Amino acid sequence: MTKFTVLGGTSSDQLARKIASRLQSKYIGTELRVFPDGEGKVTLKAKPTGKIVVVQSIYPPVDSNLIRALALVSEAKKYSSQVHAVIPYLGYQRQDRQFLPREVVTMSLIAKLFKAVGASKITIVDIHSMRALNLFQIPAKNVSAVEELVKYFKRLKLRNPLVVSPDVGGWQRAKNFAHHLGVDFIVLEKHRDRRTGKVTIEQADHDEVRNRDIILVDDIISTGGSIVKAAQYLKTQKCARIYATCTHAVLIGDAEKRIKQAGVTRIVSTNTIPGKTSVVDVSPVIAKAIS
Ligand code: R5P
Repeated sequence: MTKFTVLGGTSSDQLARKIASRLQSKYIGTELRVFPDGEGKVTLKAKPTGKIVVVQSIYPPVDSNLIRALALVSEAKKYSSQVHAVIPYLGYQRQDRQFLPREVVTMSLIAKLFKAVGASKITIVDIHSMRALNLFQIPAKNVSAVEELVKYFKRLKLRNPLVVSPDVGGWQRAKNFAHHLGVDFIVLEKHRDRRTGKVTIEQADHDEVRNRDIILVDDIISTGGSIVKAAQYLKTQKCARIYATCTHAVLIGDAEKRIKQAGVTRIVSTNTIPGKTSVVDVSPVIAKAIS
């Protein structure tokens, strides 16, 4: 007898199938019809039974994928009192506080919406901050993809690798990554202009990067601005190859091209956002968190 029905939203269809298979549970897909005015209509392919796990990442188009996630949870609630929302990549998570006066903290609204549509609990992969997680008024869990990413890097033949966080906010992530890989780490100092979004890296001397392969570790690569600036700086410090890794590769526009042009050999990300770089599977950690 299967314990759960895993309901896969269109943004996370493949990942949802993998989670269902690991949980030895029934998988139900969804169909999406987008009307000429941009409205989407979601249809479940079958009736779910038992406890329901809804899997839908909220990556671009962010608002559309958000409304579809909420619609799926709300629909699932008609079939079960226990609906677990699994949102591997949660768009809006970086808007977890006011950076400038009068800014709306949209993450707070989203947290309320998941409760309002009937989610019993929520699981997110590598959330940007605990502040975002704490905004939920239902049990909310963060699971880490770091060990899965590290397994990938253990298979590569790296030369004296050094883990680097592009900013101070990623200190703990880099430390954790370096610990599991059994290497050292350093943290760069990044500044972002809150009005223009422009990124700069403090130009301090980092002799320890010389001739070493670098693994730049971040949670999200979106425009690529942070990784580009960090890579350009590390090149001035005469490092060897640079790998960029993250849990969520949003890779807006020509981000991937610009990152490669900045000297990055490879981008490695997970399937919280499916794409060319998403070579690491997070279904094991999500399934473990659910079962
Ligand atoms: C910022 O604090 C995050 O951890 C990421 O470094 C950031 O969101 C990456 O964005 P982008 O690729 O646009 O620089």
